[in-house]
Amino acid sequence: MDAFLIEGGRKIGGEVKISGSKNASLPILAATLLTDDDVILKNAPDLSDVRTMLKLLSYIGKEIEKKDDSLIVKQGEKINTEAPYDLVKTMRASVLVLGAMIGKYHRARVSFPGGCAIGARPIDQHLKGFEALGVKIDIEEGYIVAGVKKLVGNRVVFDVPTVGGTENVLMAAVFSEGGAVLENAAMEPEVVDLANFLNSMGAKISGAGTPTIQVEGVKKLHGSDYSIIPDRIEAATYFIAGAMAGGEVVVDSLIPEHIEAVLKKADESGVDFSVEDSRIIVRGGRKLRGVQIKTQPYPGFPTDVQAQMMSMLTRAQGISVIVETIFENRFMHVNELNRMGANIKVEDRTAIINGVKKLKGAPVMASDLRASASLVLAGLVAEGVTKISRIYHLDRGYESMECKLNALGASVKRIKE
Ligand code: EPZ
Repeated sequence: MDAFLIEGGRKIGGEVKISGSKNASLPILAATLLTDDDVILKNAPDLSDVRTMLKLLSYIGKEIEKKDDSLIVKQGEKINTEAPYDLVKTMRASVLVLGAMIGKYHRARVSFPGGCAIGARPIDQHLKGFEALGVKIDIEEGYIVAGVKKLVGNRVVFDVPTVGGTENVLMAAVFSEGGAVLENAAMEPEVVDLANFLNSMGAKISGAGTPTIQVEGVKKLHGSDYSIIPDRIEAATYFIAGAMAGGEVVVDSLIPEHIEAVLKKADESGVDFSVEDSRIIVRGGRKLRGVQIKTQPYPGFPTDVQAQMMSMLTRAQGISVIVETIFENRFMHVNELNRMGANIKVEDRTAIINGVKKLKGAPVMASDLRASASLVLAGLVAEGVTKISRIYHLDRGYESMECKLNALGASVKRIKE
């Protein structure tokens, strides 16, 4: 397994280019199952989670080609409407092929996704949505077995705003007769990107990005040549890196409004930055103030930036409070940060951070994707060397993070453990 060795205390500066969004790429790749035509996708990031989804699409029957920075997805000979356990267990977002297979083939057999480190992550809302469209759902030997004669449009009201649930039901609904309405839908930019992609294939979807999404059923979807939005979570991560360890860092090729809630909290904490159309210039070195944060569905403060922001707040003056309302176990970075000299107490879903003067390098362990990112950020500013084990967590969602950080002047070595 790989580990990172980070020599802390180096000022970073320069320009970092944000890659395509992992959380837009995964549903958009699943949505290629809705057409037999070729689909060209630009700006898809080279991540282990994307490679897992490509493996799953090949298993189902797509042929994938990589050409320059594009992915070309073609229809293969045989279609196998199944997502096997050994693929789904490595990445629960594999469940996103369920809606596309139901929409296109009216049947699917997908391994029930387990929970993961950060929570149980049930999919009851996905299944409730499919049933509202007339789909019969059975659970057999750990698999979801879905079948439908004719997809009928209906009103689907989600009990909680769910990103994956909205995306999955949206993909099942594009061919539904009479159309469908999704209420209390998730509003994340990745949901909007999926809807834009589906519309580029001939779907008739309106309202994505609002709590109510209308879908007018169509007969067929054609191919598309589509460019995926930048990754707002990666952008927020490098923005925070600049606030902590800058010098002056230019975060380039992002959509600033996608991280509005993060920028608002950074501003409240005293971070020095300026926003241009698709770039943010952030300067480190300022003494920051503690702030209160509560994670919320978009457009609120994103749960996927909670751990990285906590890293920044470990050395802010005064007390910060972070309430994690989305996932029940998303504070696994706290113990590791405390091993580096942070002073954080957790009570249920609330973390209380007392600012300290400095962090010290230590051997720590990554536990999940965003917790790993928060440990890297802490390592950049800690005195001495930080060794982060189980870096495979990081590789799921950050394209060559050590290369991007070293290009900014950091010292991050990837070693074999
Ligand atoms: C997506 O996960 C993202 N993953 C997550 O990013 C992100 O943290 C999450 O949305 C929230 O923004 C991808 O897009 C691939 P949800 P998803 O369904 O769709 C509950 C990362 O770091 N819920 O919006 O699984 C659920 O338990 C990853 O890139 C139900 O109760 O999240 C959670 O409390 C981590 N029933 C809340 O809703 C359901 O059927 C939000 O989950 C579905 C969800």
